Amino acid sequence: MNEKKYVFYILLGLLYPIFKVICYINGLIYLRGVIYGLIAGVSTISVGILALKEYGGANKPVWHWLAALIPLIVIPLTPIIMIYHLGLTVFLTDKMAILMIFEGIAVAQFIVAILMFRGLIFKRGTEELMMPRIGFAIMKTVLTLRSIFKKPERTLREMGLQKGQAVLDYGCGIGSFSIPAAKMVGDDGVVYALDIHPLAIKAVEKEIRKKRIPNIKTILSARETGLPDESVDVVLLYDVFQMISDRDKLLEELYRVLKSGGILFATAERLDPKEFMNIFARENLFTLIEQRGEVFRFKRD
Ligand SMILES: C[S@@+](CC[C@H](N)C(=O)[O-])C[C@H]1O[C@@H](n2cnc3c(N)ncnc32)[C@H](O)[C@@H]1O
Repeated sequence: MNEKKYVFYILLGLLYPIFKVICYINGLIYLRGVIYGLIAGVSTISVGILALKEYGGANKPVWHWLAALIPLIVIPLTPIIMIYHLGLTVFLTDKMAILMIFEGIAVAQFIVAILMFRGLIFKRGTEELMMPRIGFAIMKTVLTLRSIFKKPERTLREMGLQKGQAVLDYGCGIGSFSIPAAKMVGDDGVVYALDIHPLAIKAVEKEIRKKRIPNIKTILSARETGLPDESVDVVLLYDVFQMISDRDKLLEELYRVLKSGGILFATAERLDPKEFMNIFARENLFTLIEQRGEVFRFKRD
């Protein structure tokens, strides 16, 4: 799956020169426009290939950073170069369509780079994972953007959180779900926001202080929750299961802390849905109740 993203990224790089050559043939741009397209294309394709080579055992993800950086540079540089060569009036009147297409390719490539990056940073396994600061910053941006388009409040409402419940948000990230969940369960309820990454815990604690949220407790951990047996009504495993190395062990821990009949919501994300279902079936600890959109609802047996 990840290799496919790399190939897609490389193919997108081909569009820069191809698109410029078409514009050149149609007389829409001068030769130097083609040269800029070639530079952008060759550099992105090269880092894409190098990043792909590193895929699998990369501890030095320099090519992966560059893969995101190059389209990011192309985005502001394109209008600057165009204005420099054409002047502002021609740029504004004649060249907007070309700019939009070129920017569109760069934006698409940047998004693909981030997706590749996420696959790489959030490698399965707790041992490998300690995402660098910049990786965390990218994840934060992605999660913040996601919250704009896909409101966590709505997802939580569909899950039917109740006042007074104890919720474990496993792999809470920046707290996109923990914070609205705390509001929904009210003062008599509690949300345990657990993450392996200290920066995630720091981000949630900052929000707790800023918004004066009394009922979120943070837990820094790679698996063990430290919670008593059968103390939680709901577990959220949103956009995290794919990153876990020993999933059976995690399910055992979640089974232990969930009350009998408690609910576990999980998303399969980049996992094959069949593989995902097999893991739950194998453990025999949870029964699938329903799947609504991307969210699977399991009941603790
Ligand atoms: C993509 S983010 C999702 C965050 C949050 N669930 C959301 O949807 O907003 C995944 C989070 O899981 C955390 N994570 C990855 N492996 C973990 C593990 N083994 N134990 C706990 N957290 C983990 C990462 O640090 C990251 O913050």
